Amino acid sequence: MPEARDSQDARPAEGYSETVIDHFERPRNNGELADPDAIGYMTNPVCGDALLLMLRIADGRIAEARWQSDGCAASIAASSLLSELVAGASLDEAAAVTREAVVEALGGLPTSKLHASVLAADALHQALADYRKKQRGD
Ligand code: FES
Repeated sequence: MPEARDSQDARPAEGYSETVIDHFERPRNNGELADPDAIGYMTNPVCGDALLLMLRIADGRIAEARWQSDGCAASIAASSLLSELVAGASLDEAAAVTREAVVEALGGLPTSKLHASVLAADALHQALADYRKKQRGD
């Protein structure tokens, strides 16, 4: 299990859904991806949480998504869930993933942690932009 940056969040508190707690306690696809085809790195300037998302893309689909997080329980859960949400998705399907979709798939987030879904969705869209940029040869 990755370390939650905020010790206050080391144990998910009340207000977290079972899905959030499950992804926090058993994060999926956590770790480094060697030679990723695309990366997205986002930080939240207010809370300081950070997410590095790495994608392997093959035949127009996300073959693998891995991530590393320096963040709270909600951001770890959002990162874990996002990696499952986009695995196998076409690039268009991945581009359609919104922060609202992340929140819904997590079974909701406390209002004070809603921005964790923004971190996840923004890292995904940045990674997709990184891939398009590399494809163009920029
Ligand atoms: S406190 Fe976790 S994303 Fe901001």
